[in-house]
Amino acid sequence: MAYPSRNYSYPTRSSSRSSIHYLILLAFAAVLVFKVDVLISQSIFAARRRASTSRNFVRPTYRRASRYINSITGFTNGTFNRNFVLSWGEERGKILEHGELLTLSLDRKSGSGFESKKEYLFAKIDMQIKLVPGNSAGTVTTYYLSSEGSAHDEIDFEFLGNSTGNPYTLHTNVFSQGKGDREQQFFLWFDPTEDFHTYSILWNPKCIILSVDGKPIREFKNMESIGVPYLKGQPMRIYSSLWNADEWATQHGLVKTDWSLAPFTASYRNFSAEACIWSPRTRKSSCESTDSAKSNSWLTEELDSRAREKMKQLQQKYMVYNYCEDPWRFPQGPGPECGSKSKINRQSNSNNNINTNANNNDNIIVPRKPRRPRRRSRSKRANKVAQID
Ligand SMILES: *[C@@H]1O[C@H](CO)[C@@H](O)[C@H](O)[C@H]1NC(C)=O
Ligand SMILES: *[C@@H]1O[C@H](CO)[C@@H](O)[C@H](O)[C@H]1NC(C)=O
Ligand SMILES: *[C@@H]1O[C@H](CO)[C@@H](O)[C@H](O)[C@H]1NC(C)=O
Repeated sequence: MAYPSRNYSYPTRSSSRSSIHYLILLAFAAVLVFKVDVLISQSIFAARRRASTSRNFVRPTYRRASRYINSITGFTNGTFNRNFVLSWGEERGKILEHGELLTLSLDRKSGSGFESKKEYLFAKIDMQIKLVPGNSAGTVTTYYLSSEGSAHDEIDFEFLGNSTGNPYTLHTNVFSQGKGDREQQFFLWFDPTEDFHTYSILWNPKCIILSVDGKPIREFKNMESIGVPYLKGQPMRIYSSLWNADEWATQHGLVKTDWSLAPFTASYRNFSAEACIWSPRTRKSSCESTDSAKSNSWLTEELDSRAREKMKQLQQKYMVYNYCEDPWRFPQGPGPECGSKSKINRQSNSNNNINTNANNNDNIIVPRKPRRPRRRSRSKRANKVAQID
């Protein structure tokens, strides 16, 4: 707002004519400032009201507020500008098409990444991703939620590239309070490089559901009652990166990246979120106020028995690794969240031709960390993990 600046030189008493001019000018400025103020507060109020009556309150809040800003400044900022920052890789990450398309690229020197501006404590997020096409061997595209600190929470989608004609591996994991080792891997039922597909994370106090094109592929229920820590106390940010890991990623590191094909590019569009936005200042989430809780039906959403049955059928067909069925890695048995039925599942899986052979550790490629350079505040953890590896 254009208030008179501090070093404005006041007119001298001797010149009464110029002081009258000055007074008129001042009165005019005051009226102008007042009017603009009213206009802005009305618009912001209207935007808030519309946002609070809408189910999807991340998008409209930003969109409507920024549309107003655009109309005075001519500035257009789309979904990606509003919600994310390109966090590493310099010009390798790009926000295009008025902020509605984001691309990450990888060359011999570096990969790239982005992260959400906000932190969330529970969210339902959808992102459409089109992965690196052709020979993507050695490349890893990550899309995940993570908190900070040593006992962090994390929900992962990671796409391990492959040589031409061979399938990508969709790797998933859930960390709660620093404990991971909960890998499940899938082949997809489509070519994820040909077009955009939607990868979704529902994270609420009851469960975490990972979905592909609206089809749940993995569920991690809140099982605190049987002693499994749940992700509910640490706000998380959304991260994504494209980077090179050809020392292990593709067919256990046997297939290297063909740098003559660089740069490799992955694309993102149509991000949408319903989320409880964490305020670091008040240490509260936006869902803690009672009026927003009503409209957030996703906060109690979970799989019903039919949806769970469908998910199991899908897993039988497309899951290629399940930590719950890996006595080689976990000789003392899987975590309690796996339930007692995991052995039975293994038997019924055994006539599936892409099924894991659980006695053989060759089937799992466990992504190593760090998967990306972190922001400065996070680099300590990344370094520590790198040393452990
Ligand atoms: C537009 O996006 C850029 C980059 O993310 C940001 O710096 C700027 O403040 C945004 N402008 C508006 C009007 O939202
Ligand atoms: C790549 O393709 C091979 C052959 O189909 C498969 O065994 C492997 O799991 C695929 N994925 C990765 C990441 O190596
Ligand atoms: C964008 O995402 C929304 C919500 O996830 C979905 O309903 C819509 O069909 C998507 N648009 C496109 C062009 O795929």
